[in-house]
Amino acid sequence: MVSGLVQSGNKASVAIGSEAMQVEATTTAPGATLADTIAVPVFEAEGIAHDLEGGQLDALVDRGEARTSVGSVALTHAGSTRYLIYGLGSRDRLDGEAARRAAAAVEAEARRLGTETLCVEIPHHASDQVVEGLVEGVVLSAHRWDTRKTENSARREPATRVLLSDHQDRSAAVARGFLLATAQNCARDLQNAPPNELTPEALVARAEEIALLSEHASLETLDRAGLIAAGCGAFAAVAQGSVREPRMIILRWSPPGVDAKPLAIVGKAVTFDSGGISIKPSGGMEEMKFDMSGGATALEATAAIIELGIATPVICIVGATENLPSGSAMLPSDIVTASDGTTIEIDNTDAEGRLVLADCIVRAKAEGASRIVDFATLTGAMRIALGHAYAGLFSNSDAWAEQLLDASAESGEPLWRMPLHPSYMKMIEGRYADIRNTSSKRVAGASTGAEFIHHFAGDEIPWAHIDIAGVADGVGLPYAKHGGAGFGVRLLVCLTESLAEA
Ligand code: BES
Ligand code: ZN
Ligand code: ZN
Repeated sequence: MVSGLVQSGNKASVAIGSEAMQVEATTTAPGATLADTIAVPVFEAEGIAHDLEGGQLDALVDRGEARTSVGSVALTHAGSTRYLIYGLGSRDRLDGEAARRAAAAVEAEARRLGTETLCVEIPHHASDQVVEGLVEGVVLSAHRWDTRKTENSARREPATRVLLSDHQDRSAAVARGFLLATAQNCARDLQNAPPNELTPEALVARAEEIALLSEHASLETLDRAGLIAAGCGAFAAVAQGSVREPRMIILRWSPPGVDAKPLAIVGKAVTFDSGGISIKPSGGMEEMKFDMSGGATALEATAAIIELGIATPVICIVGATENLPSGSAMLPSDIVTASDGTTIEIDNTDAEGRLVLADCIVRAKAEGASRIVDFATLTGAMRIALGHAYAGLFSNSDAWAEQLLDASAESGEPLWRMPLHPSYMKMIEGRYADIRNTSSKRVAGASTGAEFIHHFAGDEIPWAHIDIAGVADGVGLPYAKHGGAGFGVRLLVCLTESLAEA
């Protein structure tokens, strides 16, 4: 189930699970809004800006019952209204990420209390990034990942209305935070959906919806026969063990009046990675439904880019397939030919993501992309190296890597640059063909995976590979504790905006 976005004026509402949450900016003072729960900010070493009569809230801070650290929330009542004093830490360290974490704690407590209308007081002099962060924290935290549970009587639903109150009109920042968080939640819905439903064809159905968002968007797809006809022998080899049809999804955004080559956003969408004939151990294999996370990010970021009307042409290419063992599956030692003519020795059928991406990246270049960025849950090694804290960034261009790091700093989705090196490329030199899909040495697994993709991306145009194996799901963030995290949606929007400004 994919959340739908409805917007009218500066009001925006989104379907979260089965409930709708309406989010609005207001210049009405919190106490005059008729909200049943009011969240009031407090900074380290500062008093409450708008206290109740008698200094009731400051008194709680003075007694240490309400704390100022990010994530702290203290409850008190005045009349029939609940007050949540929420910590924002020290004022000089307040950024979008602190706001997201603080707002997520507010949302969780408001939900526990059965809040219907929540009013969040925005602190004085908050930047747009902080306002967006507050909205994102609430909307991301309210996202439900267990909507398929039928016995839900004990579960509290999120607030149906959320107001963000400031002296000034903050409706633009509220609308942007809402749109970004909603797009991220849509990616999480795709991630969390089970692989019997979220098939390559189901991803096409979502791409069709996205293409309808604008007359300047269009969709093309290649099915199994189309992939074979286009010479995508690497991608087709991964799909050949599956009864379900693979798809290469090509979604174009051509903003009117912009005559530039497109940014290619490429995503790995293996809707279930069993490993194929090189089958994975069964313990934990269920997590491999998340192996389509890169594709989910690419699609939903493109949807947000279209909705925001960003003046950067985009070509979003998603490689969607299962990776299963069967009598028709590819075999270790098979040799396949990618669409650029490279011959590839399949050493390990579980290194399938790079095979899918190879043909997607060749296609991105053939489409005349000015730059390429790919998102993929590519290697377990990346997760071992960086855990849930950072995604790994590999690039053939320092300038492009810097631009990605800037977008990452702006969106609050951390990237850490990892190395490419000719010696890693050497480790995947072929014996019987041009190149092998794995190295025989169990070292530098994330970098040899990246070098495999680098072979197809080449050095003519800036390319970056983002290995999200550690950050795609189960990351335990206050606003994305369980299931899919939707990593990279906000980052891609910031990146695309930075290209439009250039
Ligand atoms: N989808 C996996 C990578 C992965 C592992 C993502 C754990 C998230 C969590 C990928 O297709 C894979 O299986 N990679 C292999 C490569 C190896 C065979 C060189 C891996 O990392 O073990
Ligand atoms: Zn695999
Ligand atoms: Zn995989």
